[in-house]
Amino acid sequence: MATVATDYTNKVKVTDEVAEFPESVVEEMRSHLTKYPKDRSRSALIPLLFVIQRERGYIDNPGVNYLAQFLNLEVTDIWETATFYSMFNMHPVGKYHIQMCKTLSCKIMGEPELTDHICSKLGIKAGETTEDGKFTVTRVECLGSCGTAPMMQIGFDYHENLTKEKLDQIIEECE
Ligand code: FES
Repeated sequence: MATVATDYTNKVKVTDEVAEFPESVVEEMRSHLTKYPKDRSRSALIPLLFVIQRERGYIDNPGVNYLAQFLNLEVTDIWETATFYSMFNMHPVGKYHIQMCKTLSCKIMGEPELTDHICSKLGIKAGETTEDGKFTVTRVECLGSCGTAPMMQIGFDYHENLTKEKLDQIIEECE
């Protein structure tokens, strides 16, 4: 299976373009602001980044420019938060974004073999997306579920105590 490489070392192309959103999405973003004190609107940044990612597919430059204007912040304020968390993607990812935890507990419990297994099954390397856009595999830092290592995250779901057999079954169930 051919693959599409996702080079996470590539710099994001910075432009002045500002994203546009339907009124319903703008309304949703405004509703996040109401959850925080008026002088603490920056606190809404994480939920707003999730909205940008959902609407744009990933955290892109026009989306960041929009948020900077929306929150009256510098674009660097947005980027420094967005790039800190592995839950935000700076590049397009597949429909199923498989994030394998590569930190100590998971590594000791077999993560490298599991990542090799899933990559070989999908015909890609870690950091790549299948050509059909269905799967992306990335290796991420601790996802906070060390007691059920080895584990991975797909979308918002955790899959724990993984084995090769369990991995195969999860992949089979991805439509
Ligand atoms: S080390 Fe994998 S969840 Fe913490």
